[in-house]
Amino acid sequence: MTQGTSSKESSEALARAQAARLFFTWSAQHHVEALTIDQAHGARFHTPEHGWLWDLESQVYNVNVGHGHPHVQERMIAQIRGQATAAPNVVLPIRAELGALLHRVTGLEKAFLATGGSEAVENAIKIARMVTGRSKIITRRSSYHGATLAVLGVAGDARKEPFARDLAPAFHIEDPYPCPPGTPSAWVRSLESLLAAEDPSTVAAILLEGFTGTNGMQIPPADFWPRARALCDEHGILLIDDEIFSGFGRTGRWFAREHWGARPDMMVLGKGLSSGYAPLSAVMVSAAIARHFDEHKLWCGLTQYAHPVSCAAAVAVIEVMEREQLVDNSDRVGAALHERLSALAGDPATQGAIRDARGLGLMRALQFDRPVAPLHAILLRKGAYVPFRGDTLFLCPPLCLSAAEMHTVADLLEDGVRQFLG
Ligand SMILES: Cc1ncc(COP(=O)(O)O)c(C=O)c1O
Repeated sequence: MTQGTSSKESSEALARAQAARLFFTWSAQHHVEALTIDQAHGARFHTPEHGWLWDLESQVYNVNVGHGHPHVQERMIAQIRGQATAAPNVVLPIRAELGALLHRVTGLEKAFLATGGSEAVENAIKIARMVTGRSKIITRRSSYHGATLAVLGVAGDARKEPFARDLAPAFHIEDPYPCPPGTPSAWVRSLESLLAAEDPSTVAAILLEGFTGTNGMQIPPADFWPRARALCDEHGILLIDDEIFSGFGRTGRWFAREHWGARPDMMVLGKGLSSGYAPLSAVMVSAAIARHFDEHKLWCGLTQYAHPVSCAAAVAVIEVMEREQLVDNSDRVGAALHERLSALAGDPATQGAIRDARGLGLMRALQFDRPVAPLHAILLRKGAYVPFRGDTLFLCPPLCLSAAEMHTVADLLEDGVRQFLG
């Protein structure tokens, strides 16, 4: 579509043409609320139907640096003009540059690159099995790590249900939701008893989301990460931190796990890594794991490995994150948004209908005592696209959202909530 296409009719015709030939994801095809986007800038996008909308989903929680960033565009275009295609093992300056930046921002030794989050998790599982010689992967009961069969098999999200019959049994611990301070959390007890039952010497890895996305956005108890690390050390198990959703500044730290300070053996990155400008994901590994493959064959490879244009997007994204201090912005603007949401939850006008306002940085949830689909529709009419699931709204704008823009969004939210509850 050309920029600025605006009439509602041509947008509807376009939607019909696309729907006839391309599937929409995760939906019965006749029940999709599809938006046509004809322009996007910063924290907003424009649709012929609704005009400019605040993007509280950052597309798929990935456009961390914001839409239409000129620096990212320029570096990608320069790479396309220079060297747009290259086989996986070809040496290119842009690949070396990205490798060095990833080492610096993650503190881990080496990266295996892939094209999407699911593929990265899949390769992290392969690497964990190759390094340990063990097979079991422990995950949380309501975790999401991706859509491919192997990953659905190890994770706990409901999206595995249609295939569950044919998947091997998974190994789940309870969700790390808050419990009374001073006692070891239910989550830790659950992990300890699962390890005892399964024989820890058969467990290759514990795979945990840095901070759980749409399956909760609950702040974990303080012993969550440190105890998982200690148990991994005790039993020779690898700790894999999935930062695909929560990484690249989303929670006000480069990576969410930093809030609790435990060292991972591997990290998986995606989404914000290239901010959605090109497909890219990564498995980061520790020095010990990297050394293992100096002499052992790495049984992993992909045609689009380290795609030069995706590498250019990621290099530019990291440069933008650092120059514009977006991690810090996410922390500050997120804290100010939290104050607005907490005030709204406590406002007598909302009649106690808001059960919880929670999250970290610009990764937030607002949970109600009733389904919020009508509120989503109200907010769309008022100028914000706000994703939701059941009784919970998710508030995850691009990290370039300024404090002033945040207050505009919060005003709009307040208005919408009052109309919803009134
Ligand atoms: C925590 C987490 N891991 C993995 C994935 C899978 O990433 P992708 O959809 O890029 O395959 C997602 C996607 O939402 C995610 O949130």
